[in-house]
Amino acid sequence: MSPAMVMKSEESYEDNDEREVHHHQYQKGVKQLVENGRIHTLPQRYIFPASDRPIITTTEEQDDDSSFVGNKKIDLPIIDFSELIGSNRLQALRSLAHACQHYGFFQLVNHGISEEVIRRMKDVMGRFFNQAYEERAKHMTSDMKAAVRYGTSFSQNKDSVFCWRDFLKLLCHPLSDYLPHWPQSPMDLREVAATYAEETNNLFLRLMEAILESLGIKEEEEEDDNNNNIMKKLEEGGSQMMVANLYPPCPEPDLTLGMPPHSDYGLLTLLLQDEEVEGLQIQFQGKWLTVKPISNAFVVNVGDHLEIFSNGRYKSVLHRVLVNEIKSRTSVASLHSLPFNCTVKPSLKLIDDANPKRYKDTDFHTFLAYVSSREPKGKDFLHSRKLTSFTTH
Ligand code: OGA
Ligand code: NI
Repeated sequence: MSPAMVMKSEESYEDNDEREVHHHQYQKGVKQLVENGRIHTLPQRYIFPASDRPIITTTEEQDDDSSFVGNKKIDLPIIDFSELIGSNRLQALRSLAHACQHYGFFQLVNHGISEEVIRRMKDVMGRFFNQAYEERAKHMTSDMKAAVRYGTSFSQNKDSVFCWRDFLKLLCHPLSDYLPHWPQSPMDLREVAATYAEETNNLFLRLMEAILESLGIKEEEEEDDNNNNIMKKLEEGGSQMMVANLYPPCPEPDLTLGMPPHSDYGLLTLLLQDEEVEGLQIQFQGKWLTVKPISNAFVVNVGDHLEIFSNGRYKSVLHRVLVNEIKSRTSVASLHSLPFNCTVKPSLKLIDDANPKRYKDTDFHTFLAYVSSREPKGKDFLHSRKLTSFTTH
């Protein structure tokens, strides 16, 4: 370690002219910032408070592996989708329940979505980000409900500390309403992303059936009386948002994050990680652990709505993204939930004297009002939905 690195302190960051980047420059996103200036140090705006920074260690054996970030890895439970729909369903359901209860995350393999569909989706999103800034900027908007939103950090107009991430968000359901608003460049984006959206939505539906069964809720006898028949609403058309994330190489990855700790709001998220560059970390038993990429697998996680629906049995777990000094990283997340006009509430089947209702009924308006009013921070939203008698225990 060089003496300069040892000397690094808060004061020296502020003395450094290179950290002063003009407002309009970071508004254009991280990719534009990296490409337009010789960035050797991280601009002030991206520096997280010391307590929120990641601890990234490099040991001898990892030195020659530039994709390495973070120290400890986690082997997530692996759920084999072909077993879930085959003769081994009961055993697979038990593994699924265990994963959702104890990890909030699992790797889904043999899911039936072809390598070709996955490759084309990653490829077209890569080409979207590689276009000229002016082309990407056509889709910049501060409207959280827009059918298409290109941006940087989370909310570039509101965030006080920026995270090292650019994104493209596409609303997907109903497809015929949203498709005409999606980017027309690259030329094949609409077709490729529409196929991907349909296939991930079908996979999500089959996974939700399995999850309901794993919770002991049978579809036919679901709570129509209470108008909480979740499968029926999802089959008719739930909400789906796809997010392509780009995390460009970062000069000082130990001072910032690609995404701060957050939980996802929906029922389930299906994530395609970058196959070569690690970055996703989840919180497990109080520690941040790195999720190893598995080729063509989906990293699936429980969102806030499923934690609420399952009355707390399945956990919406905090996760964050580290960035890399040398390599650019991309990911594609597909977030699925009930239709926007629906209310999410704990299933009556999971409430009894021993397990009283733990969460308030929750709708998207409340969620959007909440996230528009503040920066995302941990599991704030979910905590705000907990019934007070339980938050004090
Ligand atoms: C997300 C997310 C992780 C990643 O989009 O909500 O957590 O690896 N992404 O990009
Ligand atoms: Ni997430």
